[in-house]
Order: sequence, then C-alpha cells, then structure tokens
Amino acid sequence: MTDAPWSHDLPWPDDLPPFDPFDPAIQADPYRHYAWLRAHAPVVRAGRADAPLYLVSRYDDVLAGLKDATAFVSTPPGGAIIPGLLLMLDPPLHGPMRQTISRAFSPRAVNAIEDAVRTLVATHWDRFLAAGGGDAAAGFATPLTMGVIATVLGITIDDAARMRDWTNSAVDFIATRIRGVVNPDASVDSYAAMRAFMADAMDRAAADRAAGRGRDTVIDALAALRDEGALTAEEADGFACLLFMAGHETTTLLSVNCLDQLARDPAALWWLRAGGSPAAFVDEMLRHRPSVHRVTRYAARATTIAGCAVPSGAPVRFLIASANRDAARFPDPDRFDPDRRGAPHAGFGFGMHICMGSWLARLELRLMLAHIAATTATIAANGRRVPVEGGAFATSGLTRLDLSVTRRSA
Ligand code: HEM
Repeated sequence: MTDAPWSHDLPWPDDLPPFDPFDPAIQADPYRHYAWLRAHAPVVRAGRADAPLYLVSRYDDVLAGLKDATAFVSTPPGGAIIPGLLLMLDPPLHGPMRQTISRAFSPRAVNAIEDAVRTLVATHWDRFLAAGGGDAAAGFATPLTMGVIATVLGITIDDAARMRDWTNSAVDFIATRIRGVVNPDASVDSYAAMRAFMADAMDRAAADRAAGRGRDTVIDALAALRDEGALTAEEADGFACLLFMAGHETTTLLSVNCLDQLARDPAALWWLRAGGSPAAFVDEMLRHRPSVHRVTRYAARATTIAGCAVPSGAPVRFLIASANRDAARFPDPDRFDPDRRGAPHAGFGFGMHICMGSWLARLELRLMLAHIAATTATIAANGRRVPVEGGAFATSGLTRLDLSVTRRSA
C-alpha cells in the first residue's frame, strides 16, 4: 500500500499541465489528462494540501468504488449539504426512499409522455431549422429540456424558467460546498424558494384531486405519496427540486454534445439517416462525451484503491468520463462509434445512485435525433463554442454552440 501521488508532483509531459479538475481550460477538454492518469497514476491527490481530493480514473476502479456503497458513501463526513436529498443519502435510508419515489417517477410513465415529448422536439427543432440555426443551447436544447421537465412535473413553462434560475444558484451552492468552499447564503435561499414553490404546487394538485380534477403528473403523484404519509413534506418537495437540479443541465448539455458531434462528423448524420439506432447514438455519446464527468463519494473508513491508501472521510472523485475511455474496456476508446458493443458505460453513474431519470433523458434524446435525421440536410458549426465553466455537479459540455442548419427537401 502506498500514498497516492499529488497530481502536481507527477512527471507530466511538457504539454500537459498537472491535472486540476477545477481548471476551466482543462475542464473544457480533459481527455488527454484522463488518458495519462489511467496509464501512470490511476489514483492521485489534488486540491488543498490540508483537504485533498482523491481522483480515480480507471474503469474497473471506478465501477468497483461506485458499487461499494458501504466503503464509499454519499453523505459528507460533516453531514448532508441538503438534508434528505436522495442523491446524498446512504443505506439504510436510500433504498426505501428511492423505491417509494419511483412510484411517482419511473419509466412506466414513458408511454404517457412520449407523444408530448415528440411534439416538443418537433416544435423546437422546426423553429431552429426555420431560422437557419443559431445558438443550439439557448435556441433549441434549453427550451426543449425545460418543456419536457415542465410536462413531466406538471408545471407551466414560466414556472420552469423560474425553477431553472433557482436551480442554477442552488446547484452552484452544492457544487462549491462539495469543493469545500462556503458560498453566500443567497443560494440557500434559492433552494428554499424552490421548495416553497414545489410545496405550493403539491397543495394545489391535492386540492384539484379532491375536487375530482386530478392529473397524471409527477407533482400529483408526489402530493399523493405525501398525503398518504409515505413521504414527509420535506422529502416530497425536495425530490421534485432534485428532478430539476439533476435533470435539466445534464440533459441540455448532452443534447448539445449530440449536435456538436453531428456538426463535426457529417458521417454521424448519414449513419442516423441510413437507419442507425438513435438509442445507440445516445448511449455512445454518454460514453464518449457524457455531460457528467465525475461523481463524489467519501471514504467511510480507511481503505485502498488500486493499491493506494485513502484515509477515512476523504472525498473521492470517481471520474466516470475517464472510465468511459479506458482502453481496457473500450477498444479504440477515443473514437465515436455508435455501432460499438461491449462493456456498459458509466455515463449515468453506477451502483445504487445510478441515474433515476436515464429513461427520460434517453427518450428525449432519441426522439430528438430521430427528428433531426428525418428533417435536416446539413448541420455545420458556425461561430462560437463556449464550454461549461464551474461545472455544477461536475458537468461538462458546451453552454453555447453556434450552428447553421438546412432543411431536407421533401
Ligand atoms: C443526459 C442526462 C443525464 C445524465 C448524464 C445524468 C447523470 C447522472 C449521474 C452520473 C448520476 C449519479 C450521481 C451519483 O452517483 O452521485 C445521476 C443521478 C440522478 N439523476 Fe441523472 N442524469 C441525467 C438526466 C437526468 C434526468 C432527466 C433526471 C430526472 C428528471 C435525473 C435524475 C437523477 C436523480 C434523481 C439521480 C439521483 C439518484 C439517486 O441518488 O438514487 N437525471 N444522474
């Protein structure tokens, strides 16, 4: 057993500065760093000398760590950043809560919303096509994702826009706390505002149900679970907020990554048109360029990863985007190949916290790709590409992507 090396002490090649997960330039394109880490230092330390983070880059180590929820826990040693948030719960609380919540939010709802999502995709893409393109993030992916999540929850698009603003600030609060930085209280207020909004929406849903006007939405289902005592009020409105926080930015960024792929690799559009499966395209994108790059756990006790000592309580960042490029599991890993078969990717995480909204993200993205293949002749990059900075929840991708698009003749 050895101590993990510090990232800044490693003999990095001249053209690669030491890996720092918070450096915006590295965050914009970390894949050469990931490859070097996997080859030379599968566990490293980064961050402050008195509060190191342990970064784990190889597929087998990442999956083993995420599957072992007793060795690596989600609640920070100082207590949950937001109490009761599913994402930060550990056994024995996590399993029963996830099971209860899945009565309100599960793939069973897919059939019910598929037509609505298809209509939203067509509306937003056809508008983007008619304009000849623009910024694909602001002009297409953001309104689409917000429309979908508003539909699923059962809130208006204006309320979804307010939720998005609160979410951005609440998620920044969580992300900076994960980094050990204490943010201004304004972000806590945003979370309180989101929760109050959701609580009010549930009260209204319950009143409507009592008046015989119940609807088939997640808010209605959560209100019912709350009122029958299966969830506390805090758990019910906290989960509704989590759906927004975990689902909006992640899906928006992955949609833009798909569009970027189509713009940079015209063969990808041909592949779809020739009958390639949109679902396989989405999964390869989740492997090749996922929108979440790492997930955080804390060592529940002193342990080892790949022969390196990890002290009790230490934050461990499992680099899922690096695991997805590990040649030991994915031959020719830097190539985007939607025909690829083999090991499962870790783009939605792994283990008991594996993404609960993967079915919704997959539905939205596969309908998007199918519609684009059917309607669009060309997609070309045309101007600015702005990468995520700060990366709330360790997200990665483009917050702005200027595209020119042309319609396919009938
Ligand atoms: C492409 C889009 C998405 C990506 C890449 C993604 C990625 C992830 C990842 C990596 C995790 C695991 C976090 C961890 O282990 O700590 C996660 C968890 C979660 N995601 Fe997603 N997600 C996406 C979309 C969504 C959507 C659309 C929703 C719901 C509207 C959602 C809801 C959740 C929830 C509730 C959890 C927590 C599950 C738990 O703690 O048991 N996600 N997601």
